[in-house]
Amino acid sequence: MVDFTLTDEQKNLRELAHDFAEKEIRPVAWELDKESTFPRAIIDKAFEVGLMNTHVEEQYGGPGLSYLDGCIIEEELSWGCSGVQTSLGCNGLASAPVFLGGSEEVKKEFGQSLTQDGTLASFCLTEPGAGSDVSGMRTKAVKKGDKYVLNGSKCFITNGSHADWFTVYAKTDLDAGHRGISAFLVRKDDTVIVDKKEDKMGQRASNTATITFNDTEVDAKYLIGEENKGFKLAMMTLDRTRPGVAAMATGIARAAMEFAIDYSKERVQFGVPIAMHQAIQFMIADMATEIEASRLLTWQSAVLLDQGKRNTLQSSHAKRFAADTAMKVTTDAVQVYGGYGFIKEYPVEKLMRDAKIMQLYEGTAQIQRLVIARETLLPRRV
Ligand code: CAA
Repeated sequence: MVDFTLTDEQKNLRELAHDFAEKEIRPVAWELDKESTFPRAIIDKAFEVGLMNTHVEEQYGGPGLSYLDGCIIEEELSWGCSGVQTSLGCNGLASAPVFLGGSEEVKKEFGQSLTQDGTLASFCLTEPGAGSDVSGMRTKAVKKGDKYVLNGSKCFITNGSHADWFTVYAKTDLDAGHRGISAFLVRKDDTVIVDKKEDKMGQRASNTATITFNDTEVDAKYLIGEENKGFKLAMMTLDRTRPGVAAMATGIARAAMEFAIDYSKERVQFGVPIAMHQAIQFMIADMATEIEASRLLTWQSAVLLDQGKRNTLQSSHAKRFAADTAMKVTTDAVQVYGGYGFIKEYPVEKLMRDAKIMQLYEGTAQIQRLVIARETLLPRRV
């Protein structure tokens, strides 16, 4: 049976996340964006009230919330500021491969560190020469005794300057393409070099850095899963995290629509509030429909995961559609504001800048279409 009604627990979670977004995030969001300030104080508060690491299962120290619960929270926090939510949610991305493939010992150690000590973690997949084409990576890991030695560089790493742990993908067999990639959990103390903080167009409250491994020694127990099986771990991770990105995109779009509605009721042209003009009404109507559709696709992709089912196709549908919707809705929100929408003093230009990354990170809009086309045109590959 299909039931779109949230449980009381989910409604409470949504309220908790919305209140947090309204009281702790919104009041400082535009200032954080302007100064490109990492939201450390907000992260600490989110940790205190239980809005961090919600995905971590109980036996590893977390509340073990479902993927759907996670999406409900992420939409609300992103409604507050998606740059802040990118910082808050990064532990989920970084830890997914560990909880999917790590040993019991490592899962306990890492889970404890995230949930009890409040550490931060980053996901290190992308390289200067390997973005969409993951198997083109050049970072390598060579086994020496009971250690692996890592050399190479990863770019566009969320929370990179602040992370205590890094989930790192490296080639353990340089000639085997995607079958030569392994995943490792690396501590910052293991001589990880944070090279560069990026100055970004949007989501400026989130930190994005380049991370370099220079003869970085990693204990063999921190190999995640089997050697040369890292590519699939990365793909399975992205299947699990793209619904969250879609939820974030939905939050940005919803915020933009709300601003556009409020403004259209205040702004008078031709003797009436512009909300009375059909040109504006139709723009708002399209926003509302596309936001609903984004949320439904998002929830569907999350519920499949909660049911233990493969969601590769639905995850890409959700991420693709919600990201494109966020871009369209925020662009139209600027249009509703007219010339004022282009001015930084008004809220919607930030949302338009923030929305752009939703079509880029965790797989571009084109990579989502590639996955959708393969899954739709070809027989199941996994
Ligand atoms: N689950 C499990 N296995 C999968 C899978 C999935 N979803 N997708 C593919 N595989 C398996 C395939 O079955 C295949 O297995 P075999 O070795 O048994 O044949 C293997 O993986 C290789 O698959 P493909 O042939 O499809 O691989 P490909 O090289 O054509 O790449 C791709 C596929 C979809 C383009 C992939 O490279 C991809 O998703 N690229 C985008 C990367 C991405 O999203 N990067 C974002 C970085 S993270 C980030 O942005 C966060 C941040 O901090 C900023």
